[in-house]
Amino acid sequence: MPGLTQPPQAITGPAVAAGPVIAVRGVTKTFGETTALHDVSLTVARGEIVVLLGLSGSGKSTLLRHLDGLDRPDTGTVTVLGATVSRLRGRPLRALRGQVGFVFQQFELVGSLTVLENVLTGALFRVRGPRLGLWGYRRDLQLAALGHLDRVGLLTHAYQRADTLSGGQQQRVGIARALMQNPRILLADEPVASLDPESSAQVMALIREIAIDSGLTVVCSLHQVDLALSWGDRIVGLRHGEVVLDTATQGLSKQNVMEIYGRVTTSTAELGAIETELGTAPDEDGEPDEQGELDLQTFSSARDNRR
Ligand SMILES: Nc1ncnc2c1ncn2[C@@H]1O[C@H](COP(=O)(O)OP(=O)(O)OP(=O)(O)O)[C@@H](O)[C@H]1O
Ligand SMILES: [Mg+2]
Repeated sequence: MPGLTQPPQAITGPAVAAGPVIAVRGVTKTFGETTALHDVSLTVARGEIVVLLGLSGSGKSTLLRHLDGLDRPDTGTVTVLGATVSRLRGRPLRALRGQVGFVFQQFELVGSLTVLENVLTGALFRVRGPRLGLWGYRRDLQLAALGHLDRVGLLTHAYQRADTLSGGQQQRVGIARALMQNPRILLADEPVASLDPESSAQVMALIREIAIDSGLTVVCSLHQVDLALSWGDRIVGLRHGEVVLDTATQGLSKQNVMEIYGRVTTSTAELGAIETELGTAPDEDGEPDEQGELDLQTFSSARDNRR
């Protein structure tokens, strides 16, 4: 097909089926005096949905950025789809990134463009030359974009300006845009941090459904333990750049997570910060957020029924 970028052999070869989709081995990354990641090792199997959980500054974004080569480790290696990411440059790196979709906390849509045009920008790595509006994109890409919009439930909004959508809808457009790449891996950096509990659960449900339908491997950072338990297969807890928790969610309670995560705290203040940031602190009135709990329970049961 004209304009299509061919991925290099290393990314599509037989090694992919044999090994893990993602292998991080002994990665340390410092920024000046700050150690963002310290000796982090992690493997992710095909189709797995892994949630990175941790306080602000624990290294979640840095780890995600290593997975598509936006950051490079000081020591250690990152292997994604059979390719050593830190050694890739230029075209092979772009080809790898073509297989890794990214969903951002702030959606990163162009508000003045239509929803459909925003989704089409996900195909930019596949088209050449300037694009002026929809007619700059091939018909097959436009049809694919409409298909992805249908998948995320926004087909009827295709020709609406992106900045007129609700936050949850905008994030669904962000997901449709990532799907335009036909990715094999989906990375999501706090995709629901800007959303209310109901929209958060809907977006996480959508990510999970799509991942299962398409055999996508997902690595998603979150602050909320409830969401991690409801929608992840596995939780990897980061603290000060180190992995302090790596466990399947099956049979795991919120209390288990907090206990394991909290076991390595050094002060009460720190534990308080964990509780607040990971979403276990009561509201200012001292009561848990009943509405939020109810919504999450509803969606959790929906998810369990689907499994
Ligand atoms: N480009 C950079 N330059 C300097 N320091 C950085 C850079 N990127 C990350 N850091 C530092 O590395 C540490 C880990 O940051 P990172 O953004 O990965 O944390 P995070 O877990 O994603 O936090 P948050 O939940 O707030 O998004 C922090 O101390 C941060 O200040
Ligand atoms: Mg971050």
